[in-house]
Amino acid sequence: MTLQIQSLEQYQKIYKESVEHPEKFWAAQAETFTWRKPWSKVMETNLSEPSIKWFVDGKLNITENCLDRHIPTKGEQTAILWEPNDPNEKEIRLSYRELLAEVCKVSNALKQKGIKKGDRVVFYMPMVPELAIGVLACARIGAVHSVVFAGFSAQALADRVDDAQAKMIICSDYNQRGAKVIPVKQIVDDAMDISCNSVESVLVHRNTGGEVNWSDEIDQWWHELVEGQEEICTPEPMDSEDLLFILYTSGSTGKPKGVVHTCGGYMVYSCYSFKNVFQYQEGDIYWCTADIGWITGHSYIVYGPLLAGATTMIFEGVPTYPDAGRFWQICAKHKVNQFYTAPTAIRALMACGDQHTQNHDLSDLKVLGSVGEPINEEAWHWYNEKIGKNQCPIVDTWWQTETGGIMITPLPGITDTKPCYASYPLPGIQPCLMDAEGNEILENDKEGLLCIKYPWPSMIRTTYGDHDRCKQVYFSAFPGKYFTGDGARRDSEGRLRIIGRVDDVINVSGHRIGTAEVENAINEHPSVIESAVVGYPHDIKGQGIFAYIIAEQGTWNDDSFQKGVKQTVSKVIGPIAKPDMILIVPGLPKTRSGKIMRRILRKIAANELDNMGDTSTLLNPNVVDEIIKLAYG
Ligand code: WTA
Repeated sequence: MTLQIQSLEQYQKIYKESVEHPEKFWAAQAETFTWRKPWSKVMETNLSEPSIKWFVDGKLNITENCLDRHIPTKGEQTAILWEPNDPNEKEIRLSYRELLAEVCKVSNALKQKGIKKGDRVVFYMPMVPELAIGVLACARIGAVHSVVFAGFSAQALADRVDDAQAKMIICSDYNQRGAKVIPVKQIVDDAMDISCNSVESVLVHRNTGGEVNWSDEIDQWWHELVEGQEEICTPEPMDSEDLLFILYTSGSTGKPKGVVHTCGGYMVYSCYSFKNVFQYQEGDIYWCTADIGWITGHSYIVYGPLLAGATTMIFEGVPTYPDAGRFWQICAKHKVNQFYTAPTAIRALMACGDQHTQNHDLSDLKVLGSVGEPINEEAWHWYNEKIGKNQCPIVDTWWQTETGGIMITPLPGITDTKPCYASYPLPGIQPCLMDAEGNEILENDKEGLLCIKYPWPSMIRTTYGDHDRCKQVYFSAFPGKYFTGDGARRDSEGRLRIIGRVDDVINVSGHRIGTAEVENAINEHPSVIESAVVGYPHDIKGQGIFAYIIAEQGTWNDDSFQKGVKQTVSKVIGPIAKPDMILIVPGLPKTRSGKIMRRILRKIAANELDNMGDTSTLLNPNVVDEIIKLAYG
């Protein structure tokens, strides 16, 4: 089985070995899987290109490792435990044997629709078992999945479908989230009207059973296609470096980019990190509350847990429906042992009051996880005391869509925990802090730019269709190193604390949003001339979105304008990118070369007015005072 570290001494020893003999270390992790053909070389990487290959020439299928491999020992064990949005509805349990059969049926169905190895399939679905089944079915036949979070707009969906040149979209009729019903199929229809010319068919899963528009040429019901398919489908042998999935994520500039992960390295790393970070034991019930539309759902709802033979829970609903005790009610109902969520959810539930945490038996919890954004001290303590009852180590896991898996985290019961600290790297991961001049900061008690100076198996391979962009964004700032875009601080004992993005990416409720994307969206509003967007501290969301807008003369910053701007952003990107604050300004602080000085706008948004720094290089220094007056009177 994949390595499971059990003590601090072992961690330290293994970490050292992993740095001294990385190939030996990773080969030992990879050997525990089923390979159709062994690799000839553990790694072949050149980070300046970047050209990244792991388990070179190896052949495998990740679903054989997620499913078939477990049948002899745990065929009857629950693989997926699904908890519905409505607490009065019944849960669904799929054993490993049943899940394999379902995946095979869908694989055969996809083949029947002409989906072949290498074709891209976009998913736009709620958190139902069919989403996980569909994703695995793609992997089984070698199709590349790209899951788009079902909160994105038709336009955003169309952009991603076009970029991936997807042949098929798989969606549901409607999505049930809390008390809301979302017309998913309608959004797909709208996306198809916008563009999506590469799409030949849309497969629709009947979820709520509501009425939908239908086109016989394009649309097909999931149940009609899948019913009667064979329960056996031979897994496609994939090269280690064949694409497994594309996942779109926001960067500082331009449109979201398609982060590419490949089969071999991702398989090895997602399983290895899952087992160690959550210290999963046979029979445990593991629950990650993320959406499968984000990387956390890919690596730690679907692949990591299934590769490790775990029972993984999928929750359809939201933390506050029917009330703010839902998470804890579910933990008690299913005797959850490992619980993994985002700080924004913790802060939101904390704000609803402690009474919701009471009357639920949380005594089965062993490990609590946090992901996606810095967890503030207050939320950390609340999580620790009210949920973990001071008995459960909190793993504050730092990683990114691009890293494929958790990189820096405490190991529960093994390394210590300290509020706000993601702490130590997993063995095999070599983080470093860099200064702006490109020198590595070696001393402790220092802050710098977070890089990873040695390759790891699940690292980003490319950005789909634009390799140069991948090189520019991640591998150019510090040659020979992967640049994360985050700033971090190392304490006197070597623990790392992630401070946050140093680029123009905002982290709103754990969702990555590019300022440029939001600005482009706002600029589509007919009364907007120019806009500048920055993040600012927000009690619940971590960061909120502050939009400074130059509007056409005669535009008032009244309700209808604000509503209009928000609607425009919802339409172009999705409700998650709606600005929290909108201010009409007479001008924007710009340098002589015309660049917006966001540093100043960030300070104003955060109400940090004491020290505006040097404004002398501004083309229009007076505008700063004018904006401050408008914002704070
Ligand atoms: C941030 C999510 C502080 C960070 C898995 C990173 C965190 C971005 C943490 C990636 C953490 C993630 N502490 N910040 N534990 N985890 N981040 O791609 O800024 O959606 O660069 O991946 O989230 O977001 P992504």
